[in-house]
Amino acid sequence: MKVSPELDKMMQKGRDFLGCEYPIICGAMTWVSEPNLVSAVCNAGGFASLAGGNAPADILKQQVAAIREMTDKPFGVNLITIAPNYRSHLELLGELKIPYIIFAGSFPKKEEIEIAKASGAKVMCFASTLSIAKRMIRFGSDAIILEGSEAGGHIGHVALSVLLQQVLFEVRDQIPVFVAGGIATGKMLAHVMLMGAAGVQLGTRFVMTEESRVHENFKNVFKRANARDAVSTPQYDSKLPVVAVRALRNKGTDAFGKLQLKLLKQLETDEISREEAQNEVETFWIGALRQAAVDGDVERGSLMAGQSVGLVDQIVPVSALLQELMEDAGEEIKLIKEKINCL
Ligand SMILES: Cc1cc2nc3c(=O)[nH]c(=O)nc-3n(C[C@H](O)[C@H](O)[C@H](O)COP(=O)(O)O)c2cc1C
Repeated sequence: MKVSPELDKMMQKGRDFLGCEYPIICGAMTWVSEPNLVSAVCNAGGFASLAGGNAPADILKQQVAAIREMTDKPFGVNLITIAPNYRSHLELLGELKIPYIIFAGSFPKKEEIEIAKASGAKVMCFASTLSIAKRMIRFGSDAIILEGSEAGGHIGHVALSVLLQQVLFEVRDQIPVFVAGGIATGKMLAHVMLMGAAGVQLGTRFVMTEESRVHENFKNVFKRANARDAVSTPQYDSKLPVVAVRALRNKGTDAFGKLQLKLLKQLETDEISREEAQNEVETFWIGALRQAAVDGDVERGSLMAGQSVGLVDQIVPVSALLQELMEDAGEEIKLIKEKINCL
C-alpha cells in the first residue's frame, strides 16, 4: 500500500511501539473483537485487542490460542480491572506471554502494571485526565489510550477535542498516545497525527468490516444510524454510580433505565449492597450486548456504538478500511501542505 511520505514518518513512533505497519488499533469490543477479527486486523498490517475482560479464563485461553493459529503478528488483550476474574486473568496473560496488555475499566495499581511488564508485555492504559495520565506513566505504562466520550461502549465524560488539549499536548513527548472516540476517516487520522498522536484506536468502523462476526442485524442498524442516535446513558442517583455507556437508542436503553430504578429501590431497603448493584449493572451490559451483537436482537439488546456510527454506511474488508484511511490521510496532508505553502 502506498503511504504518503509525511504520514509514513509520523506513523513511525506508533509503528515501532505496536510492532505493526499502520498504528491503527481495532479497540477491544466485547463479543465483537474475537479471534477472527483480531487476527484479520493484525494480518492486514493494523493492530487489534482481544476483549478478554469478561470471559471465563478457559475461554480466554482458547481465544488466545485461536489468534495464534491465525496470525504470527503481535496483538493485545484487554483486561477489565473491575471484572470478577481480573486478577486471575492478569496472571493467565503473564503465563501466556501476551505481548500487549491493555488495562481498561478502571485504573490499574502500580503493582499490577509491574506484574504485566514482568511477563514481558508492553502495557497500555486509558487516561481520562492529565493527572491520571501522569500517574499511569509514573506506574510504568508504556503507552496511553486517550478516549473521548464520543466513543462507543463504556465511556468517560470528556470529548476528545478537550482531551487532546488537556492530555495529548502535555504528554505526547513522553509516551506514545493513541487517540480514540469518533475517529472514522483518514482526514481525521491525518489531523490527530499532526497533533502528535502516535496512532488511533477505532471501534465502530471495525464493527462494520466483513471480518467482524457480529450479527448482520447489528451491522444493518449501524448502516442506517445517525451520529445523534448514539446516546450516552444517564446516572439517576449518586447512590448507584454507573459508568455511562454509549449505544444506539432502543428498548435496551429503556430496560437499563428500569434496571437502575429497581436497583436503587433495593439499595434503599438494604436488599443489596452497592457492589452487588454495580455488578448487576455490568452483567446487564454484557448480556444485552450479546443479545444484539451475537443473537441479532437489535430491538432489546444493547447496540453499543460511537457517534462515529453516523460516518459509516458500508461494510468493507479490513484491508480496504486500512487502505482507505491511509489514502485519505495522505490526501489530507497534501491539502494541508498546499494551504501552508500559500501562507
Ligand atoms: C460494540 C462495542 C463494544 C466495546 N467494548 C469495549 C470493551 O469491551 N472494552 C473496551 O476497553 N472498550 C470497548 N469499546 C470501545 C472501543 O474499544 C473503542 O475504544 C471505541 O469504540 C472507539 O470509538 P469509536 O467507536 O467512535 O471508534 C467498545 C466499543 C463498541 C462500539
